Amino acid sequence: MSGEGQVQAQASVARAHWSSRWGFFLVTVGSAVGLGNIWKFPYMTGSNGGSAFVLVYLACILIIGVPLLMAETLLGRRGQASPVGTMRALVAEAGAQRFWVVIGYVGIIGSFLILAFYSVVAGWVLEYTWQAAGGFAAASKEVFAQAFADLLANPARLIFWHSLFMAMTAVVVLGGVTAGIERANKIMMPGLFAILLFLVGYGAYAADLPAAWRFLFHFDASALNRGVLFAAMGHAFFTLSLGMGAIITYGSYLDRDTSIPKICLQVAVADTVVALLAGLSIFSVVFAQGLAPEAGPGLLLQTLPLAFSQMPGGQAIGFLFFVLVVFAAWTSSISLLEPSVTLLVERFAMGRRQAVLCVTLAIWLLGVAVAFSFNDWKGFSLFGLGLFDLLDTATTKFLMPLAGLLIALFTAWVMRRADVAEEIGLRGAAFVFWYRVLAFVSPVAILIIFLHVLGVLG
Ligand code: PFF
Repeated sequence: MSGEGQVQAQASVARAHWSSRWGFFLVTVGSAVGLGNIWKFPYMTGSNGGSAFVLVYLACILIIGVPLLMAETLLGRRGQASPVGTMRALVAEAGAQRFWVVIGYVGIIGSFLILAFYSVVAGWVLEYTWQAAGGFAAASKEVFAQAFADLLANPARLIFWHSLFMAMTAVVVLGGVTAGIERANKIMMPGLFAILLFLVGYGAYAADLPAAWRFLFHFDASALNRGVLFAAMGHAFFTLSLGMGAIITYGSYLDRDTSIPKICLQVAVADTVVALLAGLSIFSVVFAQGLAPEAGPGLLLQTLPLAFSQMPGGQAIGFLFFVLVVFAAWTSSISLLEPSVTLLVERFAMGRRQAVLCVTLAIWLLGVAVAFSFNDWKGFSLFGLGLFDLLDTATTKFLMPLAGLLIALFTAWVMRRADVAEEIGLRGAAFVFWYRVLAFVSPVAILIIFLHVLGVLG
């Protein structure tokens, strides 16, 4: 048996599986729904012209996101191993160049780098949850802006919350695939949905839901420009967790009887609905308080506490809101830790505990550097970017589209068509349509984003 064949055989014998398709649905929605939906989507919509951004974002999810989500899940389920092991097995099966294993490595590196800054942002959210529990004292806009600036200027506080968040993530992943990851998602995801529905209901009752609705859905073509287009495309990748090994890894724990297209479509719909509901509930509050929607990354942490401090029932609502954001961030970060853990377990025959410790420690260290990049190490920059922006840019603008491009090409052009058809379980025109989108539409769309990012397309 070849080396690759052995990897596949060993991996599939001992491989854990989700207990049901519902389990897979929840963990994958858990990965997809995160800070991207609740922190990034609203502020990006706010600073990119509202409804124009929303429309392009929806189109990108449908045209690029869903076909790729299906392809990535397919790779994981067929490979039955870590992102790297999966790609080795599939390269062997297709008799392809070893080059394609790079898809696995890009995923591992990308998930590692994302978690290093994601956990620092999640740390901010923990701090605000803590403050929300005590209630935000009524104060001016400037005071809330200063409070956020003070947090960023204080490395000890940033590192404390970042460390706590990494520990929370590690504890769940330590529990294993079903007893840890699946169980945590089964508790947090329904909780997240319930809180979100409640908050939207509150928005309709006490805040300005109609204004939020107009802002998100009354399409205004004049706000559409190239910057909006690319921002929306990039965000479609981030929000669906594409290309970073998370989906391959979760797909590798999926059983053979589940229909990949159907469940991927459901995941994308759930992710989009959460982003839109979060946008509605946040902008309802923003408009009711007469605040500016284009506040940027600080929208969640500067504007909302101000609003919560002024509105009726604001203390309870504010606390619930931040708990929701913690749940969203936690279930996503779990999916960012697991790919590297499975790789160490598989390649170095480590126990899960040892692997979780090693990866967590390494990511934690990089996260500490990210925390310092807001204060003591502010002077350090590469290509004009501080460490935080550097990691964000390197992953969302380069590694994610790169991985997406390679995944589309590998699935449509390198794997045997019969193997792809067998694994995806689509037949007739539906298969041909998906296959062609993956072969032509996705690569061309991604290449255009890439050329733009590299400055070739202005
Ligand atoms: N999809 C997550 C979010 O929207 O916050 C972020 C993410 C998770 C990106 C997992 C990539 C990933 F592999």
